[in-house]
Amino acid sequence: MSMSEAKKKTGGLAGVVAGESAICTCGLGNGLNYYGYAIEDLANHAEFEEIAFLLQYAQLPNSKELEEYKNKIIAQRELSENLKTILKAIPKETHPMNLMQTAVAALGALEAEKEDFSNQDEKIIRLLGILPSVLCYWHHFVHFGKEIDFNSNQKSIAGYFLEKLQEQDPKEDFIKAMQCSLILYAEHEFNASTFTARTCASTKSDIFSAVAAAIGALRGPLHGGANEAAMGLIESFSSVEEAIEGVNRKLENKELLMGFGHRVYGLGGDPRNALIKVWSKHLGGETLIFKVSEAIENLMKEKKPNLPPNADFYSASAYHFMGIPTAYFTPIFIMSRVSGWCAHIKEQRANNKLIRPSSEYIGPSPRKFIKIQDR
Ligand code: CMC
Repeated sequence: MSMSEAKKKTGGLAGVVAGESAICTCGLGNGLNYYGYAIEDLANHAEFEEIAFLLQYAQLPNSKELEEYKNKIIAQRELSENLKTILKAIPKETHPMNLMQTAVAALGALEAEKEDFSNQDEKIIRLLGILPSVLCYWHHFVHFGKEIDFNSNQKSIAGYFLEKLQEQDPKEDFIKAMQCSLILYAEHEFNASTFTARTCASTKSDIFSAVAAAIGALRGPLHGGANEAAMGLIESFSSVEEAIEGVNRKLENKELLMGFGHRVYGLGGDPRNALIKVWSKHLGGETLIFKVSEAIENLMKEKKPNLPPNADFYSASAYHFMGIPTAYFTPIFIMSRVSGWCAHIKEQRANNKLIRPSSEYIGPSPRKFIKIQDR
């Protein structure tokens, strides 16, 4: 293989096997499996906390274990006064992903993990419990000057988040759709944010640092931020005809269509898309937003069959139909993916080797240094 072929092949590390993992298969025969369980079974028959347990302990819980696990998560919903003070200082113009990253970094400072990581499981449960509270507390404070409490009858993360965000009992359908979305987003092998978390953990850093680093990687529109960007695309059209015309123009201009394409899945597409589309259709099938979404999907199928929609495309409209502000789409991704990141952090730590690849040098040959006064 020539150097340029090799470079082309490994650009963005595409196709490079960067380590071993027992957690997830992604793209093998187009399937997505967590610890061997097919995503279709998990999304249709489980709740998110079962998946979080599976990712944390490598096995599905029985009913008693699940109830205990959920109670432990519920007990971790409260924010400390110090954390509230930090959140209150973050202005409403801040991107909510930066807010979430700040909160996780602050937890590292305020509630540090033990140096020997012996309380890593407690910290994972803390993150699962507190992240929805962080976003909702900040939301109500910066927009309405109100400090919410963290009491709720909702036992699930999905129900609790919806209740606290909207300050009303969530509809059962919304909770189920949110459960499905959290399950679909929970884990995805060596994606950019997970690899970032593993790289950070491989230096023997603490769990909050690794999760904060992962949030930074998730924020971008090529990764988690695509669900927000997809909503922006869909909402920019006021009719199906306008959408077809607009997408055709974007394709002619070689612009990226957010919510389409994937590094790993082939032509069969992202298996998460069909699962979340069912919920998007159920919640808003009669709306213009859904009709525009389907028109874009159909046009892409015809014009770019090699770029099927990914999980972010119909997640966007599903969240929109639940009344969630677009800026909170990617923070919801965090509430879910934190389970996958932490599974990888544990796995990395269990058999650690510093992740430190090499680069191919393409800079100047060795040359003589000229002192500043002579330059
Ligand atoms: N719209 C238009 N053209 C595209 C798209 C797209 N969404 N995705 C890829 N292409 C084109 C790309 O321009 C390139 O064309 P050319 O060969 O002429 O230069 C070709 O397809 C190959 O694309 P690539 O960028 O080399 O592929 P990649 O594996 O590096 O990128 C991707 C994968 C997901 C970053 C990319 O498909 C993309 O930018 N999609 C839009 C953003 C998006 O939806 N991201 C979410 C990913 S899945 C869930 C998640 O992680 O959150």
